[in-house]
Parts: sequence; C-alpha cells; structure tokens
Amino acid sequence: MKIIKILDNNEAGKIVSDLILDEVKSNKNVILGLATGSSPITTYENIINKTKDQNIDWSNVITFNLDEYKGLESDHNQSYRYFMNNQLFNHINIKKENTFVPSGLIDSDNEAQKYDELIAQKGGIDLQLLGLGINGHVGFNEPGSDFEGLTSIVNLTKSTIEANSRFFENESDVPTQAISMGLKSIMNAKKIILIATGEAKAEAVKNLIEGPISKDWPCSILLNHNDVTVVIDEQAAKLLK
Ligand code: GLP
Repeated sequence: MKIIKILDNNEAGKIVSDLILDEVKSNKNVILGLATGSSPITTYENIINKTKDQNIDWSNVITFNLDEYKGLESDHNQSYRYFMNNQLFNHINIKKENTFVPSGLIDSDNEAQKYDELIAQKGGIDLQLLGLGINGHVGFNEPGSDFEGLTSIVNLTKSTIEANSRFFENESDVPTQAISMGLKSIMNAKKIILIATGEAKAEAVKNLIEGPISKDWPCSILLNHNDVTVVIDEQAAKLLK
C-alpha cells in the first residue's frame, strides 16, 4: 500500500487528478472506476481544468461508478448519476453512453450483478477511485459486507444515512438502500486510489492501513490488493502509529 500525505483536500485534487490523467493519456481506451461524495470533488475540478489546458481526449474512455441510491431516478438532484454529470461528465468530451452508473431502479440482486458482467465484458476496471466512509465503507459496502460480494442492493447504516443527510433537505429524504459494487467488484480493479481527508475519517484510515482485515472495517480488505494508493491529510492520519 502506497501512502501519499497531503495538506488538504485541494492538494489531494491536484495529485489524484494527475494520477488519473496519466492513465487517460497513456491509454485512450482506459476504463475508470469513479466515486461520488465530497472527497473526489476537487479531483474532478482539476481534471476538468487540466483536460481543457492540455486538450486531453476522453472520447474513448469508459467509466463505471461505484454506487447509486435505490429509488432515485437518474435525474434526481441527489442521484449519483446527476452528481457525476454535473461534477465531471458535462465538462469533458466523454461520451455519455460510455459512462455507467448503477440504476437506482434495480429491484433484484440478479439484475444488479449484470453490472459486474458489463464491467468484465468491457475489459475490467484499470483504475478505481474511492472515497472512504466514516465507518470504513467503500462504495456503499457497510460493516459486515461480504468480501466476496458483487454488485447488489445494500442497506445503509444509520450512521451513513446521518452522514449523507447533509446533502438532503431532511434526514428522512435519504434513501435507506443503495445499489453498490461489491467488495469483490472493487478488488477486481487493477489499481485503486483512495482519498480520505479530515478527522472524521481517522479511525477508518487506521483500520485501512494498519488492519486487521476484518468485516467490521470493509476498507481493510484493500490490504489484500497489490496496487493501492491512499491519499490522506494530517487529520485523517492522526491515529496512525
Ligand atoms: C458515500 C459514498 C461513498 C463515499 C463516502 C464518503 O456514502 N457512497 O462512495 O466514499 O460516502 O463520502 P465523503 O467523500 O463525502 O466523505
């Protein structure tokens, strides 16, 4: 596991955008796994600006997002599809038909697993970007999630609903379920970059980096992956030995 210590989320955006753009420049058909949440926003801003400055071509790039709230239509302003269109896809020359976000209207795990089949069909994810939940979730794989899990319908924990309620008008508006790539789907990516900043992430970061590998901290499974880069600030690193 490679650890990059940065000052704040702005610096994370500068560094991670370069890591992602290096992939895009070296392979015009690259398949990226993308994340939502506040952690990657500065990364997407930097990608948009550098893409303009350096005239970077996204026309053959394919992307797969980690997750989507169950029950939200793609045009709902809190859907992750809406987030991705606004934060990134609308500002670069990627083809929308090459951008995949699980549908929030999926009703069965059988249907959800077609997402993994599609990822495999396209050739597998070259680089997966991740944020980190306060409770150690990656994607929406909450504590207790199966390490062998593929894309499925998952229940959100009370703490995740609370944490994500800041984006909704009322906590009761936050969906209680999501469709999320599983831990196995994530581990299948060739490379992984995870961004975690701020004190609230410190305990999850400690379990991510120091282990032990345990279902109590889903992120800890990343210790078994051979190409993970973790980008953290001082506050997120504060519990590390
Ligand atoms: C959400 C998302 C995750 C994200 C995490 C952290 O629940 N499903 O993919 O990584 O929470 O969010 P943030 O970056 O806003 O702290």
